[in-house]
Amino acid sequence: MSERTLVLLKPDTVRRGLVGEILGRYEAKGLSIVATWFGTIDAQQADAHYAEHVERDFYPPLRAFVTSGPMMALVLEGDQAIEVVRLLNGATDGRVAAPGTIRGDLSLSNRENLVHGSDSPESAARETALWFPELG
Ligand code: CMP
Repeated sequence: MSERTLVLLKPDTVRRGLVGEILGRYEAKGLSIVATWFGTIDAQQADAHYAEHVERDFYPPLRAFVTSGPMMALVLEGDQAIEVVRLLNGATDGRVAAPGTIRGDLSLSNRENLVHGSDSPESAARETALWFPELG
């Protein structure tokens, strides 16, 4: 079933010049780009996106990281897009993510892990409405 998911190419992706490489992987898989946004978010937007993590020990440095420079938000669409993107992204920690995945091939960090993908239909709906109110 075709569905949509929210993807972030985090500031490390932009800083390292990996936008084309990573977008190319999603496109080559067959996912379609429905919407894009490029810019630098503030702490309020970071807190809204990561609402479920704001109390975690790892959150303050994560907030500093995601507000540290421009990033790209995307809505991608395709058959089982939520699961497909998570499989392409790989495990959260780039150090142990499987080779062949975006994080497994390109990240050596648990925090600076290049990408974010919605983890469920509920978070895809919430995150899409947050980043792209016009699609809500
Ligand atoms: P993401 O998929 O965007 O979801 C939450 C983010 O928090 C995660 O990717 C990482 O960037 C970060 N993160 C999760 N766990 C840790 C951790 N233990 N230490 C540092 N950063 C983390």
